[in-house]
Amino acid sequence: MTNKFKDKVIWITGASSGIGEALAIEFAKQGARLILSARRIEELNRVALLTKLPPLDLMILPFDLKNTNNASALIAQIINKFGAIDVLINNGGYSQRGEAISTDIKIDRELMEVNYFAYINLTKAVLPYMKNKNSGQLVVISSIAGKFGFYLRSGYSASKHALHGFFESLRLETEKFGIKTLIVCPGKIKTNISFHAVDAKGNEHNKMDESHANAMSANECAIKIINAISNNKEEVFIGGKELIMIKLKRFLPKLFSKIIRKQSPY
Ligand SMILES: NC(=O)c1ccc[n+]([C@@H]2O[C@H](COP(=O)([O-])OP(=O)(O)OC[C@H]3O[C@@H](n4cnc5c(N)ncnc54)[C@H](OP(=O)(O)O)[C@@H]3O)[C@@H](O)[C@H]2O)c1
Repeated sequence: MTNKFKDKVIWITGASSGIGEALAIEFAKQGARLILSARRIEELNRVALLTKLPPLDLMILPFDLKNTNNASALIAQIINKFGAIDVLINNGGYSQRGEAISTDIKIDRELMEVNYFAYINLTKAVLPYMKNKNSGQLVVISSIAGKFGFYLRSGYSASKHALHGFFESLRLETEKFGIKTLIVCPGKIKTNISFHAVDAKGNEHNKMDESHANAMSANECAIKIINAISNNKEEVFIGGKELIMIKLKRFLPKLFSKIIRKQSPY
């Protein structure tokens, strides 16, 4: 085990479940100091216990990604306790299971707010501290849906595509300050993501989709993300056989077009 993350201050959003929870547990094993964020305090407390970190090395910072206008105040709390932020992992978010034609624009805007604007808001507030230190690592959890559109996910896919445009540009602008940017594109990972995906009316899908039930574990995904951070990767794809679609779209676009139409949305 590497001790690259020993005493590093790592802020994880979406830490109450799934990939964020698994990242928290793995980083704690590697000696990191953690800030855990999400809305559900009781779930953050549960994850905090699993990390086995002492209070000195742990902070629970609950908030709703729908409103990140207070990003600077959140970061001030972190700096006050830890004195720095070495890694920001923008991970919190939710998916969609609704056709565009019947989805109110309000639902599209909310997906953009949580999955895109919140990431930018937190990042912009953290950047001055990383710039001052001349080091830092930004990690963004996108999706394979950030590389191609898919049934029932128009708003979700758009929010993930937007992350690539913003963070690829930001990477170029901030490398000179020693700041690295990793974009992670998971395929199918076994988490609660499909339960909380919203339908055209904004109701939760409330089911584990078959494609997620048999997918890679959140723990395996977290280990691969941590390896990608350690190796200063710029972009990484994590998942199973569904990742072939990325290559098909790039190298055999006509075949991609045929195959994507035949995939189940679930
Ligand atoms: N699982 C997959 O197959 C997959 C594939 C591609 C990409 N991803 C991405 O991976 C990331 C993590 O998802 P997951 O699979 O681990 O799903 P998950 O188990 O449902 O976890 C989602 C996390 O995001 C938090 N969250 C959701 N809405 C929030 C809000 N409004 N404010 C604050 N926190 C919020 C949740 O916490 P609270 O409910 O406590 O707020 C939870 O901690 C997401 O960005 C997702 O798009 C997942």
